[in-house]
Amino acid sequence: MLMNIAKTLKFRRDKRWPQGAIVYQIYPRSFFDSNADGIGDLPGITAKLKYLKDLGVGVIWLSPFYTSPMADFGYDIADYCDVDPIFGTLQDIDKLIKSAHSKGIKILVDLVPNHSSDEHEWFRQSRQTREGKYSDWYIWKDPKATDKSGKPVPPNNWLDIFTGETAWEWEPARQQFYLHSFDVKQPDLNWANPEVREAIKTAMRFWLDKGVDGFRVDAVRFMGKDPDFKDNPKNPLYKPGEGSNYNSIKHIYSQGWPSLYGYLNEMADVLKEKPYQKSLRFMVTESYPETSEPVNEYLEFYKGMDPKVAAPFNFEGLGLPWQAEPWRQFLAKFHTALDDYSPLCVASYAFGNHDQHRLATRLGDPAARSAAVLLLTLPGMAFIYNGEEIGMKNGKIPPSLIKDPAAKGGASRDPERTPLQWSSAKNAGFTTADTSWLPVNSDYQTDNIQLQTKDRYSYYRLYQSLAKLRNSSKALRKGQLSVINTGHQSVLGYLRTQGRQSHLTLINFSEVSVEIKLPDSIKIGRFQISSDAETKHKKTPNNHIQLLPYEAAVFKTKHK
Ligand code: NOJ
Repeated sequence: MLMNIAKTLKFRRDKRWPQGAIVYQIYPRSFFDSNADGIGDLPGITAKLKYLKDLGVGVIWLSPFYTSPMADFGYDIADYCDVDPIFGTLQDIDKLIKSAHSKGIKILVDLVPNHSSDEHEWFRQSRQTREGKYSDWYIWKDPKATDKSGKPVPPNNWLDIFTGETAWEWEPARQQFYLHSFDVKQPDLNWANPEVREAIKTAMRFWLDKGVDGFRVDAVRFMGKDPDFKDNPKNPLYKPGEGSNYNSIKHIYSQGWPSLYGYLNEMADVLKEKPYQKSLRFMVTESYPETSEPVNEYLEFYKGMDPKVAAPFNFEGLGLPWQAEPWRQFLAKFHTALDDYSPLCVASYAFGNHDQHRLATRLGDPAARSAAVLLLTLPGMAFIYNGEEIGMKNGKIPPSLIKDPAAKGGASRDPERTPLQWSSAKNAGFTTADTSWLPVNSDYQTDNIQLQTKDRYSYYRLYQSLAKLRNSSKALRKGQLSVINTGHQSVLGYLRTQGRQSHLTLINFSEVSVEIKLPDSIKIGRFQISSDAETKHKKTPNNHIQLLPYEAAVFKTKHK
């Protein structure tokens, strides 16, 4: 009887776990190497779960660890239901899931539905002949024409995002082109084919049966393509030679076609199937806004999927300039829109990931610390990319050591993928091998986890205190957000309120100190955290608050 009550309570507690969750993204190659081959692995993650628990993490997202020739470091999958030997075995992932769950940590795994590796058995067979089971599993097209030299001309002008060159590759065996929105070794799957959709759903069930709590779903915009494969229009703003040639066209037919919502919804339905109903399974989809109306774009995803089990990433922490006004406007508009649409919507903020330059490199230290305060006092899921919790900077990778396929188009992501800096030991304590797959940052002897956990002024301690505050406050986890008028252009202010509990976050986006006076309706209570570790705000008379350059601070509040 008691057991049953406990179980029911646990289930209830679990029900809306994404709301307020702190999610830590692990890029397995760079997290921790347990077998001295210079590459991080699954046992390495299991070994460090306590570190994550101590940080206050409730969920981990694992970037791909599946069988892969590693043309795009695992985002090119050759077997959706197996582990690449570089990372370990299926037993290792079982152990990791079990161990994480025993510590109360949930697991999201990466799902890459838009493309597989060209070494996947489906593609091996598909490329051989126009007949047979897999012939229509990828996007095959006849040439548009043959040029003067007799060479087949690609069916349209679509470009691959990595090189900015044609997204079509000729396959002599079929005398046809196949489409690859990313690397030539990442052929796009044909989502219009129901058998493909079933195959990906089977892979989802495989991982759900293993006990994972959900998925981060890769590159979902690319799943929806114009069925007529029309040429993309030119981008009138593009200046030849400036940035990648990929930007020379607008990708309105090659991605973002509304059919994608139907596909995502089918995937979301899997999460609701009978065997998975005991505890909520959830997916977060990756799509960067393409227009100047990101709120509408995000909302389309909430509407296109079931918000009970799915949410789109919110990438404003990557896209918005570090200024008060754009944030003020975005937060007010976005959270009002979500609240109006459905109380089930979960915001899903990521300020960094393995494709984006490091937060501290983009913003500088003081603002990057404020960004931590912002991230961890916003509603929904807060995604922390491994290394951000110690303020890691972009690594400098000598040209001869560059690994990323996207570097061909001039935008290497290696700098944000350097090994996590655990200690001052050789290779930052990441590996005992002589060299790591990417070189460790040169600053590892002064900036690493071992030193920062002992230093009360460090990034780590800031993240840890913020996580502690968030995990212990229902208002920060589940409360509504309302933007307030701080009376100062450069200062963003918002309340997070649940019942009688409320917190106020104030962020000074400017490089100078400011003094603000808040409206009398807000009764400022106890000071809780500042991004500036040495600052402790005293009780302020007449609602006056002084903020340091780039400082963010959190207070308890009451409303009159
Ligand atoms: C987005 C992933 O985050 C990125 O690393 C990858 O290269 C592309 N999708 C293609 O899968």
